[in-house]
Amino acid sequence: MGLSMTERGNALPQHVAIIMDGNGRWAKAQGLSRVEGHRKGAGRVRDVIEWAADAGIKQVSLYAFSTENWKRPKLEITALMTLMATLLPLEIERMNERGARLLTLGDTSKLPWIARKALDKTCKATESNSSIDVILCLNYGGQQEILEGVKRFCASYTDDVSKAEALKHLNEDTFRSLLGRDHILPVDLLIRTGGERRISNFHLWDAAYAELYFTGRLWPEYNQSDFHAALDDYAGRERRFGRTSEQLKGEVADE
Ligand code: IPE
Ligand code: IPE
Ligand code: MG
Repeated sequence: MGLSMTERGNALPQHVAIIMDGNGRWAKAQGLSRVEGHRKGAGRVRDVIEWAADAGIKQVSLYAFSTENWKRPKLEITALMTLMATLLPLEIERMNERGARLLTLGDTSKLPWIARKALDKTCKATESNSSIDVILCLNYGGQQEILEGVKRFCASYTDDVSKAEALKHLNEDTFRSLLGRDHILPVDLLIRTGGERRISNFHLWDAAYAELYFTGRLWPEYNQSDFHAALDDYAGRERRFGRTSEQLKGEVADE
């Protein structure tokens, strides 16, 4: 099934971000309710953690609820939150067996209490695991994250630290810290299922140099071969970060 881990070698992404899209369309095609689509999709969340851990990936971030998803019907939002609150704690044992640590990204303080409780419980129960980080992105929006960073920067200069002094130290790395992303690796590979070709406000800062991979597969039907196809595709990409191909191959000097 695709390239083995050693064949992929250095071309294995460290951080894979996934926009899990297509639950609603899958349900509609089956004559089921959108909520049933989300329930089926939750099973793939469980699977993808296993596949990513098996592949040797260090971090997988999963877009579960965007800042824009609050615009959905109230009933669907409640069902999504209830589903997460019910299913997440059931994964603790499996996550501990896999050495998976649950982290969150996004403003979880705005989530319903039952969801916050389940998240707290699962994060605490898995906090000492170190094989793979599973970053559940909830009430997450890239634009909002950047705005929060700007606000933190503005709050960082006081009478003692002048604005000029603070600005002198502001660069891509220090700003990334202001976003609170120090513990998150840059996104290497961003996968979106469901056929849309957009980022939908996910990881905007780190999407700068992420490799993008779009598949038409609907999230409830996403399988291990699909995941490996994305990893194989990534392994064949040349990440130039602005340089030339010749520079990367050492054929010409940097100077
Ligand atoms: C993604 O599936 C899950 C969430 C956004 C929570 P959708 O619910 O967006 O499914 P489609 O796009 O309507 O098929
Ligand atoms: C993106 O999916 C958010 C999540 C997968 C949680 P959406 O289905 O909400 O994206 P748009 O609004 O169609 O771009
Ligand atoms: Mg969608």
